[in-house]
Amino acid sequence: MDDYRALNRASWDERAPAHAASPDYNRDRFIADPAYLSKVVRFDLPRLGDIAGLRGVHLQCHIGTDTISLARLGARMTGLDFSAASVAEARRLAADTGSDVEFVHADVYDAVGVLGREAFDLVFTGVGALCWLPDVARWAGVVAGLLRPGGRLFLREGHPVLWAVDETRDDGALVLDYPYFERAEPIVFEDSGTYVATDAAFTENVTHSWNHGLGEIVTALLDQGLTLTMLVEHDSVPWQAFPGRMDRLDGGEWRLTDRPWRLPHTYTLQAVKR
Ligand SMILES: C[S@@+](CC[C@H](N)C(=O)[O-])C[C@H]1O[C@@H](n2cnc3c(N)ncnc32)[C@H](O)[C@@H]1O
Repeated sequence: MDDYRALNRASWDERAPAHAASPDYNRDRFIADPAYLSKVVRFDLPRLGDIAGLRGVHLQCHIGTDTISLARLGARMTGLDFSAASVAEARRLAADTGSDVEFVHADVYDAVGVLGREAFDLVFTGVGALCWLPDVARWAGVVAGLLRPGGRLFLREGHPVLWAVDETRDDGALVLDYPYFERAEPIVFEDSGTYVATDAAFTENVTHSWNHGLGEIVTALLDQGLTLTMLVEHDSVPWQAFPGRMDRLDGGEWRLTDRPWRLPHTYTLQAVKR
């Protein structure tokens, strides 16, 4: 079971510098414009509300673009990721933008021990994060452990129905071919590419991932004593999930070209610890 960490970490370590160099992560804009926010954070601004002064943690923060965006909105942010190369890129972006954000190298399942119990007002996570974790109930325990009473979880994620669709079809059909529910067995992919524009060539291409049904995610949080306060499903996704079958929208998100109302693309969920 522990093999998934080594495989996935190698893949992320190799991709982090290429992502930092890709125009899709807009590193130059972050440095040039102190008010610039990642498109993921911009998308959810109306739902995020005022986070000024909150003590926040971004789990699985990757190269830190969303974490620094949240700091720009006034939160005191910590980012956590198990990929050393991702953390190095995040620290480099923080230095280059003069952002006072701490980046910590650790596995998400170890976050409470590393960062402290009930230390945060806000846990932010998502957009290709939960799929790397085998056990969503264990993740919910981490979220509950990090939040102080009254603190909230803010989650934007790929919808489990989207993750279950066969992305290789070219006949317009949306076919569920991957698991929707969480299973013990990982979904094993071998993919020499990535989700942003880059000329980089990769060799660490085997990953293990898992889907988690929407009910499983909500139930895991309820079981930890959190109260669900928002669950909005969206018809757009921040990356081109089905290459060649999506339109790019104003704001940079992607939507299925053919009858997009068939598919919940992503969701935003908020929950509060009582
Ligand atoms: C697609 S990124 C999500 C971040 C954000 N959406 C972004 O684009 O910047 C996924 C991140 O999860 C991290 N990750 C995967 N498994 C992890 C684990 N078990 N513990 C901590 N981080 C993990 C990877 O290193 C990677 O940086």
